[in-house]
Amino acid sequence: MTTTEILSADASGIARAAALLRAGGLVAFPTETVYGLGADATNDQAVAQVFEAKNRPRFNPLIAHVASLDEARALGVFNATAMALADAFWPGALTLVVPLRESFPLSELVTDGANSVALRVPGSDIAQRLLVEFGGPVAAPSANPSGRVSPTTAAHVLAGLDGRIAAVLDGGPAEVGLESTIIACLDTPTLLRPGGLPVEIIEQAIGGALASPAQSAEKLLAPGMLRSHYAPGASLRLNANAPDEGEVWLGFGPETAHSDLNLSPAGDLREAAANLFAYLRQIDPGEDGRIAVSPIPEHGLGRAIADRLRRAAAPRD
Ligand code: TXA
Ligand code: MG
Repeated sequence: MTTTEILSADASGIARAAALLRAGGLVAFPTETVYGLGADATNDQAVAQVFEAKNRPRFNPLIAHVASLDEARALGVFNATAMALADAFWPGALTLVVPLRESFPLSELVTDGANSVALRVPGSDIAQRLLVEFGGPVAAPSANPSGRVSPTTAAHVLAGLDGRIAAVLDGGPAEVGLESTIIACLDTPTLLRPGGLPVEIIEQAIGGALASPAQSAEKLLAPGMLRSHYAPGASLRLNANAPDEGEVWLGFGPETAHSDLNLSPAGDLREAAANLFAYLRQIDPGEDGRIAVSPIPEHGLGRAIADRLRRAAAPRD
């Protein structure tokens, strides 16, 4: 056990966080999507500790976070589609998988030895300041124990990882509340994970449809997309228009005024996304309990919300 420092998101907190990263420590930090568990992406030992702290069953590749497109291009090769997407949506809730530049001294644990790398320039001001201060790529999965709900506050991070990481930088609640959308720009632009940037907006920017992993020549999948994931303790029943006996009810929209907790009484998908992970924690009655969840319309951010709920409801290993 180590004592996990709680750092405020001011100049001295950010300087301390960067120093801990440089020393090979793990620092959880806020992004606009969810909190990430950061490690120096060029330090094998530090990256290995990420898997250890999260209890990840296997070495899934991690997203490398950088402060700018220029820094991203030092790590990966951007084709025309990748450039267009980076120009349109970075900094933001978008991760691009591109060919790795072999000359960059990135830890192989970040790419899992593959010749592609997942890159993201986060938009949150605190993440930006930390990345600038650190001055290199920070590998960061979501800052939760493997298989559990992603954290959208510093308190969520501590609930899962207190004593297992060097520090958490407290930047208040994450604005978007869902992980980034992941697009592979290798051959055909392919959607690997729906997320905080709606697919429709991305397709509009590239002027065509994204392939799904099954259609792509390489049958790519984001390896971290295990079927059961994002799970609260209780079991979930989806598309529930009312709770059964013994269930608590997570509602969505004005028709679900009687629910125990409502993701968005107004039926606003952006609000529901921001509330999703916090409310799954808040409503969770624990391992013997059951949660009924209202239907979520599957357009815009609703697609990523429904994806996370399906994973939370999937059979557990
Ligand atoms: O919003 C987010 O994306 C957050 C914040 C912290 O940036 N991060 C996050 O990381 O959600 P994580 O590790 O929980 O999910 C990253 C996903 C995994 O499913 C992983 O398999 C996939 O990205 N991934 C990483 N590198 C990849 C690669 N080279 N090719 C394909 N998928 C990759
Ligand atoms: Mg995660």
